[in-house]
Amino acid sequence: AANATPPSPCPAAALETCKSSFGVQVMTRHLITSAIPYINGIKHLGNLVGSQLPADLYARYLRGRGHEVLFLCATDEHGTPAELAAAKAGKPVAEYCAEMHEVQARIADGFGLSFDHFGRSSSTQNKVLTQHFAAALYDQGLIEEVEQRQIYSETDGRFLPDRYVEGTCPNCGFEDARGDQCDNCTKQLDPEDLINPRSTVSGATDLEMRATKHLFLRQSQMKDKLDTWINSKADWPVLTTSIAKKWLHDGDGLQDRGITRDLNWGVPVKRGDTDWPGMEGKVFYVWFDAPIEYIACAQEWVDAGKGTDWERWWRTDKGADDVRYTQFMGKDNVPFHTLSFPATIMGSSEPWKLVDYIKSFNYLNYDGGQFSTSRGRGVFMDQALEILPADYWRWWLLSHAPETSDAEFTWENFQSSVNKDLADVLGNFISRITKFCRSKFSEDVPSAGEYGPEEHALIADLTERVARYQTAMEAMEVRKSAAELRAIWAAGNEYLQAQAPWTTFKTDPDKAAAQVRLALNLIPLYAVLSAPFIPTAAASMLESMKVENAAWPDDVPDALAQLPPGHGFEVPEVLFAKITDEQRDEWAEKFAGVRS
Ligand code: 2FM
Ligand code: ZN
Repeated sequence: AANATPPSPCPAAALETCKSSFGVQVMTRHLITSAIPYINGIKHLGNLVGSQLPADLYARYLRGRGHEVLFLCATDEHGTPAELAAAKAGKPVAEYCAEMHEVQARIADGFGLSFDHFGRSSSTQNKVLTQHFAAALYDQGLIEEVEQRQIYSETDGRFLPDRYVEGTCPNCGFEDARGDQCDNCTKQLDPEDLINPRSTVSGATDLEMRATKHLFLRQSQMKDKLDTWINSKADWPVLTTSIAKKWLHDGDGLQDRGITRDLNWGVPVKRGDTDWPGMEGKVFYVWFDAPIEYIACAQEWVDAGKGTDWERWWRTDKGADDVRYTQFMGKDNVPFHTLSFPATIMGSSEPWKLVDYIKSFNYLNYDGGQFSTSRGRGVFMDQALEILPADYWRWWLLSHAPETSDAEFTWENFQSSVNKDLADVLGNFISRITKFCRSKFSEDVPSAGEYGPEEHALIADLTERVARYQTAMEAMEVRKSAAELRAIWAAGNEYLQAQAPWTTFKTDPDKAAAQVRLALNLIPLYAVLSAPFIPTAAASMLESMKVENAAWPDDVPDALAQLPPGHGFEVPEVLFAKITDEQRDEWAEKFAGVRS
C-alpha cells in the first residue's frame, strides 16, 4: 500500500515526518548520481570519499527505508586525459577505455558500491543524447560559432589542443612546459606563449596559427535564470552554493563556454544526426558530454535489461516530477553541476529533470600532503582492497568524510578508529554476548526472565538514538551519522558492561537470560542500521543470527523483539581484526613512496 500512487516528494530533511493522511510513510523515488570518475587510472581514496562512497551510503540507506532508488555512476571516458593515458599505455584509446572501465567496475564492486548501473560516457546512448542537446541548444539560439586562431600542425595534419603543445616556459625557462600550464612554475600559459613550441603527438615543430571555428554555449544569456535557481536552494550545503555564487558573480561573471575541441576521441560535433558545417574533425568538450551521461546511463541501464523505463526518472513530462534527484561530488566539480549542466538542461527548453540537491565535499589529504594521482602518492582503491576488506575503509572514510573542511588520512588515525570503533566496540560486543550465551545457555536465544527497568531504559535510549541517526542520514550529514551509529553501538556495550550478565548469572540465571536475550536482539538491529556503512559485516551479522529479510527498525521496541526465545544462532567469526602496530608501520612505509 505504501507504494501506491505516491504524492509529490517530501523535502529530504522533512522525510522523517512526511506521512500521508493515512499515516503511512510516503515512499519517494530517489535518483542518485555520483560524479563519474575519469577513465585514466585507478582512483585514490580521496576521490572515493568525495563522491562514490557517500552516494552509496545514501543509496543504501534509502533502499533500507523502502524507497525506490536509481543509483547511477559511469566512467568519464573522453578528453585529452583519456587519449594521453592510452598513448602512454601504448593502446588504441577505445581499447584502453574498455579495459579500464572493467578495472574500475571490478574495484567499485569490491568496495560494495551498489550502483544500479555503472555506465560509460563513450556509449552510443550518450553520443546520441549529447548531439541531441547540441541541436536543442542551437535551436534555442544558445550556441554561437566563434572564429579562433589555433595552433595547427602541418606534419600531424590537425589542430592541436593546448595540452598537445609543449615548449620552453617564458616565465622560468623549463623546457617541457605544456601549452596550458607550466608544471615547473605553475604559471597558466597559452600555447603561443611557449618558446620553441613542438607537437606532443609527433614532436613536429612546423606549427602555425590558423583560423578555425569552435562552438560556445552562451551561458551568459542564462545567468539570471541560474542565479534565481541557485538562490532558491536555501537548503543546499554552503560549500555548494558559495562556489556556484562565486562563479556567477566574481570577475566578469558567468562566461560563455567553449564546448568543442580538436580531438579524435569524443562525441563528434553534430546537430542531432545532421553534420555541422565547419565542425569536421571536432568533438564535444569532455565536460559537455560527461554530465549528459547521467541521463544516458539510465538509458544504458534499461538497454542492459536492468530497468524498463528511464524516462520516469529523467523526463518531468513522464513522471520525473515525483523524483528527488541528489548529486554527490568533490568541490572541484561543483561549477559544472551548479551552472554548466543546468545551463544545458534549462537551455534545451525540454522537460528534463533538474537536480534537487547537491552534496559536495572538500578534499581528503594523505599523511601530511596531498593524494596525488600523477605522483602515485597515497592509497589507491585497488591497493586498499589488497590489504584490508572494504568495510574497514568504508568506515574510516565515511566517519572522517571531508564535509565542513578538508580532512586528513593518517595511518595512526586509521588504526585507532578501526581498532576502537569496529573491533573494540562493535565486534567485541557481538563476540562477547554470543560466546557467553553459548557457554552458559546454548546457541538459542534464552527464554527465561523478564525485562526490568535497565532493559526498558536501553530500549528507550536506543529508540531516541535511532531517530537521531535517521535524521542525520536523511540530511546526508555523513560524519554526524557515523557518530550517531557509533553511539548506538556503544550503548549496547555500556549496557553489557553495567549489567554484566556473567556476574548476574551466578546469583540470578533467569535475570541473566533476559539480559542476554535483549543483547542478542541488538545484533540484527545493529546489522540493519550499520549496513549502509559496512554492508559486508552487516550481512554476516544477520547470517549468524539467522535473520532473513531484516527490515528497517521503524519501531525500535518491535525490532528488539525479532529474535524470539528459542531462536537459533551461531557465534560469528571474528568480524573485525585489529590493525597491529607492525602492520600500521609497514603500510605507512609502503605507501609513502611512489606508485610505479
Ligand atoms: O572530476 C572528475 O573526475 C570528472 N570526471 C567528473 C565528471 S562528473 C560529471 F559531470 F559527469
Ligand atoms: Zn615555468
